Amino acid sequence: DAGAASDSGGPSDGGGIDAGASDAGRADAGLRGWVSPALGIVGAAVDAKALRDDARYRAILADDFNRVTPENAMKWASIHPQPGTYDFADADALVAFAQAHGQSVRGHTLVWHQQLPGWMSDALTPSEVRAQLEGHIDAVVGRYSASVAVWDVVNEALDDQGQLRDTLFLRKLGSGYLELALRRARAAAPGAVLAYNDYDIETLNAKSDAAYRLVQQLKAAGAPIDAVGMQFHVDAYDFAAFALREADLRANIRRFAALGVKVHFTEVDVRVAGLDLSPAARLAYQAQVVRLLTTVCREEPGCDEVTFWGFADKYSWIDSQYGADDPLLYDDALVAKPAYQAVRDGLTGTGASALDLGLDTSCRDATTRLACHPFENVKFGGGFAITSSTGTLALSAARARRGGRSLRATAGPETTPQAFWGHGGLGALRTGTLYARVHVFVPSSANFQGMNLFGVGESTAPYQGVFAALSGNQLQLSLTTAGQYPVSSVTLPRDQWSCVLLSLTLSDTAGSASLTLDGAPAIAVSGVDTLPAGGMGNALFGITYLAPATATGEVFLDEAVVSTSPVGCN
Ligand code: XIL
Repeated sequence: DAGAASDSGGPSDGGGIDAGASDAGRADAGLRGWVSPALGIVGAAVDAKALRDDARYRAILADDFNRVTPENAMKWASIHPQPGTYDFADADALVAFAQAHGQSVRGHTLVWHQQLPGWMSDALTPSEVRAQLEGHIDAVVGRYSASVAVWDVVNEALDDQGQLRDTLFLRKLGSGYLELALRRARAAAPGAVLAYNDYDIETLNAKSDAAYRLVQQLKAAGAPIDAVGMQFHVDAYDFAAFALREADLRANIRRFAALGVKVHFTEVDVRVAGLDLSPAARLAYQAQVVRLLTTVCREEPGCDEVTFWGFADKYSWIDSQYGADDPLLYDDALVAKPAYQAVRDGLTGTGASALDLGLDTSCRDATTRLACHPFENVKFGGGFAITSSTGTLALSAARARRGGRSLRATAGPETTPQAFWGHGGLGALRTGTLYARVHVFVPSSANFQGMNLFGVGESTAPYQGVFAALSGNQLQLSLTTAGQYPVSSVTLPRDQWSCVLLSLTLSDTAGSASLTLDGAPAIAVSGVDTLPAGGMGNALFGITYLAPATATGEVFLDEAVVSTSPVGCN
């Protein structure tokens, strides 16, 4: 398909284009003109109504994509609405369009628990379900055996826990239904590539582990499975917070490839509404994610298709499912967005070489980061939030060190004012060096006396630990492990962001602790007890203790990290 260069007008023509119109006036080929042997397939799901009604939509589809997937037209309820009654009109129209424009077709999908007609129900006996399934596959796959290159034979058979999903097919036919469907599809179209397709299996996690085992079992049973479709309906925030990471995506592709299946990215869209950035910055970030995904698929030998779930925000399913968003390559007016160019850059390997997707680069190395949070979104991912009665804790757009949000903690006079984000899991730490860093902004209006700002300590009483504490404008190193109290202090500037870094060598007798402020050594102490009798338990960030009845105010924190390897202030 690499030679299937543009044969029609395209998105940069500026309107008035029709599928089949000449290429005059275009400086560049559409996306499909940029595929290569390393990544030969760039596809899009197709909305049947838009294909009928929207000439500009048709022109872009023809120009940019060399593979098309019917978004709904081949689903059971659409194509086989009554027993023995098939409606092939929309599917045929798509196949005809694809053939007219030199595109291959991905069939989607034969066996899925959604968009099933009402009559495919538990009222049927197991043998009736089996006969219907076999008849369905024979009819649909058979009809398109010469025109559909790849089938998503089974879709979403795993639930969110990684168990086989409780569906009509599982209930009536048992777990053998996957193999049954694959074998039936192979018989109906021996030349087609057969895939298992699912969501949330893009990275290394419990569900992708389950998908891996499922494919392994199918392979071991000799079932005809050639590919795994990873849907990639992703939230850009998960890249910003390093919940989705390039290295994990690559490792996941490689382990599936090692099973002898190809990997396809089948339903890519990238939500950005959860990023608290300006609209332009959101789209720029989305472009980075799109370029990353395209680059990863091009560079990984095991990956050979990137298909987007549509191409225009105007027709995307995302708004109805997740709320207003702009997840695709073209906007509501079918004008190319930054993500469009990003696909091309990913296909050709141009653009910045370093993929810096994190809003907090400190979170990149999750193997040594015990806790890490960029505070960019309304999720306190991985940690816990604690507030006392006067305390408030929220992600705030009022100021941010970087990105769009920070963590804002407030508290007023009461017996034990508290407002903090915490992270557990430090319990095993009894030796070695621990690093904790946070960017801090204390407004001049804040009146804090003896407040623990951040640090690490036991998770149970007496809550001893090592904290950076604030008293007025003085930042102190607070050791409370053996009745030791602030050893010295340094002035913390108000009304600006400062980077405070605590480094701690753990020992009952020969411990050391030091604080740096904006990279400069500020306070250090050695030969002391830095290890609570109960061991380290939690890392806490915010107002973790405030001397009662003296103080009120707010503090902002951003890009908190606790690590066993050194961290900087980037
Ligand atoms: C979605 C379509 O985009 C919508 O138009 C339809 O209403 C529901 O299905 N995973 C899949 C796709 O495998 O078939 C789904 O498509 C999106 C999630």
